[in-house]
Amino acid sequence: MSAYPATRLRRLRRTPGLRGLVRETHLHLDDFVMPLFVAPEPLPNPELPGLARHSLETLVPEVEELVRLGVGSVILFGIPEEKDEEATGAWEDDGIVQRALRELRPRFPELVLLTDVCLCEYTSHGHCGVVRDGEVANDESLDLLVRTAVSHVEAGADVVAPSDMMDGRVGAIREALPETPILAYSAKYASAFYGPFREAADSAPAFGDRRGYQMDPANVREALRECELDLAEGADAVMVKPALPYLDVIRAVRDRFDAPVGAYNVSGEYAMVKAAAAAGHLEERAAALESLAAIKRAGADLVISYWTKELAGWL
Ligand code: PBG
Repeated sequence: MSAYPATRLRRLRRTPGLRGLVRETHLHLDDFVMPLFVAPEPLPNPELPGLARHSLETLVPEVEELVRLGVGSVILFGIPEEKDEEATGAWEDDGIVQRALRELRPRFPELVLLTDVCLCEYTSHGHCGVVRDGEVANDESLDLLVRTAVSHVEAGADVVAPSDMMDGRVGAIREALPETPILAYSAKYASAFYGPFREAADSAPAFGDRRGYQMDPANVREALRECELDLAEGADAVMVKPALPYLDVIRAVRDRFDAPVGAYNVSGEYAMVKAAAAAGHLEERAAALESLAAIKRAGADLVISYWTKELAGWL
């Protein structure tokens, strides 16, 4: 590269048209997945609209609106009527997510329906697996996770996304569901940024924390091992979660693997910007677009984001 004054990088920044011509990263609605919470009763969330709860009745018009706006994919989370030790609400045939799928599937044949496969919203203790002697029992949890995934597919899910972080869960689900795409939450960190989700889903652990199964935020090589194992077990795509504090992990995963890479722009990332905007510290739309472009630039192919609905209006 020749130096200044022959080279002047500002020449291509002068107008919106020039900047558009040389832009390296673009946001397409096709790459975004809108999370939706389904519960027995609706619970609006005016400060964090992406984290509102829908009932089966309010879910359908919400999805109608999303589809009208051009959103092509949603991921469902359920809040059951009752929670128990065996997470019955996660895998029973008439669980809240299964019922939601049966409402949505025939009405929106082209919409991609993803489901989060985990037990934490359904267990009385809030852990992502079954608890035996005060510990989350890995292998015993696999059976319930598989039942959950199978019941979602029977009810109409297109893609299952296991987020529990038990070892071997992708392989176990793959064996039961040879035809179903699995988006594995492979590098899911024990993060402080899940707070608003746990309020919306009522899934904070009643004792202890999730560090015995979710990843240590300090590690990136381990994230590559998680992705490698999940792909070997039959995952179709891997995911890094959260997104913004882990852009280096997204990049490392992108560089190492050719499988599609997802990123989950989590509730705390969304809530921080909303709160800062409400306090007048920054402009939400600009901050959100910048954040989402950064996640794509880091190498994510698909992004789960609570901004998906708003993004549809902005694009
Ligand atoms: C569930 C699950 C969680 C999130 C997605 N799936 C919560 C957790 O692990 O505590 C968090 C998403 C967010 O914060 O937006 N197992």
